[in-house]
Amino acid sequence: MKYQFPENFWWGSAASGPQTEGVYEGDGKGQNIWDYWYEQEPTKFFHQVGPEKTSRFYEKYKEDIQLMKETGHNSFRTSIQWSRLFPEGAGEVNQKAVDFYNAVIDELIANDIEPFINLYHFDMPMALQEKGGWLNRETVEAYVVFAKTCFELFGDRVKKWFTHNEPVVPVEGGYLYQFHYPNVVDMKKAVQVGYHEVLASAKAIKVYHEMNQTGEIGIILNLTPSYPRDENNPEDVKAAAIADAIFNRSFLDSSVKGEFPQDLIELLRDIDHLPEIETGDLETIKENAVDLLGVNYYQPRRIKAKETTTKLAEGPMPDDYFDNYIMPGRKMNPYRGWEIYEKGIYDILTNLRENYGNIRCFISENGMGVEGEEDYINADGSIEDDYRIEFVKDHLAYVHQAIQEGSNVQGYHMWTCMDNWSWTNAYKNRYGFIAVDLEQEGKRTIKKSGRWFKEMTDQNGFNA
Ligand code: BG6
Repeated sequence: MKYQFPENFWWGSAASGPQTEGVYEGDGKGQNIWDYWYEQEPTKFFHQVGPEKTSRFYEKYKEDIQLMKETGHNSFRTSIQWSRLFPEGAGEVNQKAVDFYNAVIDELIANDIEPFINLYHFDMPMALQEKGGWLNRETVEAYVVFAKTCFELFGDRVKKWFTHNEPVVPVEGGYLYQFHYPNVVDMKKAVQVGYHEVLASAKAIKVYHEMNQTGEIGIILNLTPSYPRDENNPEDVKAAAIADAIFNRSFLDSSVKGEFPQDLIELLRDIDHLPEIETGDLETIKENAVDLLGVNYYQPRRIKAKETTTKLAEGPMPDDYFDNYIMPGRKMNPYRGWEIYEKGIYDILTNLRENYGNIRCFISENGMGVEGEEDYINADGSIEDDYRIEFVKDHLAYVHQAIQEGSNVQGYHMWTCMDNWSWTNAYKNRYGFIAVDLEQEGKRTIKKSGRWFKEMTDQNGFNA
C-alpha cells in the first residue's frame, strides 16, 4: 500500500535549546534550573552526565543544518533558551544570544528549512526559580516580556511559534513525581504551576496577535490517550476519564477551547485545590486560544479503577483516583518499558477532529529511544536502526488514515535529529536518526533511519 501525504507536508524533527546547544555557562548565558540542579545533585542524572554535555549545536549548527538537509527536513523545531536571552530571566538582553539565534534562523531559511520556534522547554532561569518559578505569578509577566522580545527580534522570519512544549511535564516532574527541579511533591502547588503556564501561554498569544505578526502561534502538548482496562467496567471508565482530565484535557481544553474541563474543576474544588485566579484571567484564556496545535505522542496510558491503597504523598495526588495498568500481551519498547500502540496517534487525531473543531495540527514529536549504548553499530561504523524505521512507518500509517478521514494534519516531526541530552535521563535513550559520538568531539553519523527519512520525504510518502 502506498502512503502518500498531502503536498507541502512539514517533514522534519524537533529538539530544544537546553538539550542541544551546550555552552551552558558561556557567552553570557545565565543559569537555569538544570544547570543549578546538576551542580547541586549530579547523582540524579544518568551516569552523572549534566547539561554541559550536549551535542554542541551552539558551535556545530551549520554542520547540523546541512545534515538536516541531507536527511530531508523542510522544517525544524527548537527552542530559544530563556536564560540565554535573558540571563537573569528579566532585564538586560544578552546580545550574544540574539546573534546566535539570528544566525541559526538565517542558516535554516537559507537551506529551505522553516524554523519552528518554541519559547519554553522546561528551562526556567534560576533567578526566577529562586522567587518561585511558575508558582509565582510574577513569572507569568516575565515570560510575556521574554515572548514579546522574541517576537520583536525574530518574528520577521519566524512564522511558527509555540508557547510551551509539554507544559504538563514541569507540573508532573517538578511538583508531583520528582524528576524536575524543584523536586517537590505537592498537588496544590502543581495545580498553581499548571494554571500559570496556561495563563502565560494565553497572554503571549494575545501579545503576538496584538503585534500584528504575520505567522501562527500554538502550543505543543504531549497527549497520552487514556484507555480504561475494561470499557464495560464503569469504574475503569471513570478512572480513565479522570486521568484524561488531569494529564490531557487540562492543557488541551484550555489551549484550544479557552476553558478548563468541568470535571477537573469539580475534582479540584472537592479537595480545595483550585488555583488562585485573578479577575480577568479566565477571559484572557477564553479569548486567546491557539492557532495551531503540536501533538507529541510516544505511548498510551492504560488505566484501571483504584485497587492499591499505597499513598504516594501526605496530601492528595492524581494517583489517588486511578491505577496505571500494563496490558498483558501488548507490544513494548524493550528499551524504555513503554507500550508501543500506533493506533493511539490516530485516536488523538480523531478526537481533535470530532471534539476540538478539527484544529490545524501536526505531529510535533514521535520517536523511539534506545536505552544504554548504541550496541547496534556494525563493525564498519554503520548503524542499522531498523526498529526505528518500523516504529515511524507504523505511526505514519495511522496519521495517513486520519488525514484520509479528514483530520487537519499538516506535518510530522520526529524526536529527534541528533541524539541529544535528555534531562535526568541524559544519554540513556538515544532517539536521533543521526548518532552523536560524545567520545569523538560529538562526531555525527547518519543512521539507516536518517537515510530512510530522506527517501521518504523526497517521495512525500512510502510504500508498505
Ligand atoms: C519529550 C520531551 O517528552 O521526550 C523531550 O519533549 C525529551 O524534551 C523526550 O527529551 C525524550 O525523553 P526521554 O526521557 O525518553 O529521554
